[in-house]
Amino acid sequence: MKLRIIILAAGKGTRMRSKLPKVLHKVANKPMIEHVIECARALNPSAIDLIYGHGAEQLKQRVTGDDLNWIEQQQQLGTGHAVQQAIPFIKDDEKVVVLYGDVPLLTAETLQALLDASADTDLGLLTMFLNNPVGYGRIIRDQDKQIQGIVEQKDANLDQLRIDEVNTGIMVASGAPFKSWLKDLSNDNAQQEYYLTDVVAMAAEQGVQIASAQPQQTSEVEGANNRQQLASLERAFQWRMAEQVMTAGATLVDPARFDCRGQLQVGEDVVIDVNVVFEGNVQLGDGVIIEPNCVIKDASIGDGSVIRANSHIEGASLGKNCKVGPFGRLRVGSTLADEAQIGNFVEMKKSRLGKGSKANHLTYLGDTEVGEFANIGAGTITCNYDGVNKSVTEIGDNAFIGSNSSLVAPVSIGAKATVGAGSVITRTVEAEELAVGRAKQRNISNWQRPQKKGS
Ligand code: UD1
Ligand code: CA
Repeated sequence: MKLRIIILAAGKGTRMRSKLPKVLHKVANKPMIEHVIECARALNPSAIDLIYGHGAEQLKQRVTGDDLNWIEQQQQLGTGHAVQQAIPFIKDDEKVVVLYGDVPLLTAETLQALLDASADTDLGLLTMFLNNPVGYGRIIRDQDKQIQGIVEQKDANLDQLRIDEVNTGIMVASGAPFKSWLKDLSNDNAQQEYYLTDVVAMAAEQGVQIASAQPQQTSEVEGANNRQQLASLERAFQWRMAEQVMTAGATLVDPARFDCRGQLQVGEDVVIDVNVVFEGNVQLGDGVIIEPNCVIKDASIGDGSVIRANSHIEGASLGKNCKVGPFGRLRVGSTLADEAQIGNFVEMKKSRLGKGSKANHLTYLGDTEVGEFANIGAGTITCNYDGVNKSVTEIGDNAFIGSNSSLVAPVSIGAKATVGAGSVITRTVEAEELAVGRAKQRNISNWQRPQKKGS
């Protein structure tokens, strides 16, 4: 059976008070509508229709894909009117699913459950039971529990308002009858809107047995109309991510303060302290410890490595048992072999530290290749930029760079070579040599310091 998914995204989102169309507001740093599209794609539909109204340019710039069919709804005359815009595209033999661009937490599993429940009938609804159903359309069932219709809050009588089963808005229908019901909608109701929900009573009248399914969590079907609701969806989403990483074997010191804005894979016995933000694609091996206040983006960190507090890691690859921080900064293209160490106020960019090598204090390593078991002293700077070009520094195995040295690239320091503290190195240092490149010390006896004038 072919599947068509229609996503409603025409609303302006006035309550966001924003220049951005509502559906571009983000959950986990990704526009809500992209979460919905991702969920839709997981079901392998043959088409995805995006019903848009406001902010068309911004939407089309941000949301892309050959599989997206953009359909404009010029005036927002109701959810039924929105779906009517897709009628010319709906094929008789398709199953049509209606989703919402501002309901980002829906899972493919829940949608599949609705499709399964509706497999043998022409209409299925995702409903849920709420202690406080205020605001939602109520599901009307007869004495045999058959769904008869949906009554909107504003059109409901006192008995109907007491019904605790509500419409999530998400439905699935067979193409041919869906089109005929949609064409028959009227706006004769309290809000003078074309209600999508009115197709339910039409189907029931024609004897269609209306199927239903429920989401696993109510947050899956919650929408964001304002920034408060957006924040609560963010927390619900983060809780879901937190559950996944805990299930995979990570201890979260406080799962309520967990933030993953991408994909995170964890090994066993990982510990993640508070206030750590993960972005992009991150892999943490077994036993990795991440101390508080770190940002980790597009990185892989090997077994047993420790990232101490306040470190910033992006585009880096770390072997086993490495140490970084506190206050370490690994920029794009940083590689640490096993047991390498980066200490406080050390910045690394497009550089590699070999096995067991250390740069523990106040250092910049840019475009640098360091061998094994080298020691990069405090305050070492690789001068990789002459104002125009970037050049490479090479440091051999077991080299020792004395504190506060400048290595002016391109330059190479051989294996087991030593650089005296405070050197400016501009020429090759061969293996096992000592290089001292600094002014000689002079001591002047009985030195008188200058006096203040007039005193
Ligand atoms: C709708 C349902 C209600 C359900 C509730 C769940 C109808 C008539 N009612 O009510 O039964 O309990 O959702 O949240 O369907 N939209 C458009 N074009 C329009 C109108 C709406 O794209 O012309 C989009 C909006 O941007 C929004 C979504 O459809 O994302 C829902 O519309 P809204 O008017 O908020 O419906 P509700 O009153 O919440
Ligand atoms: Ca709504």
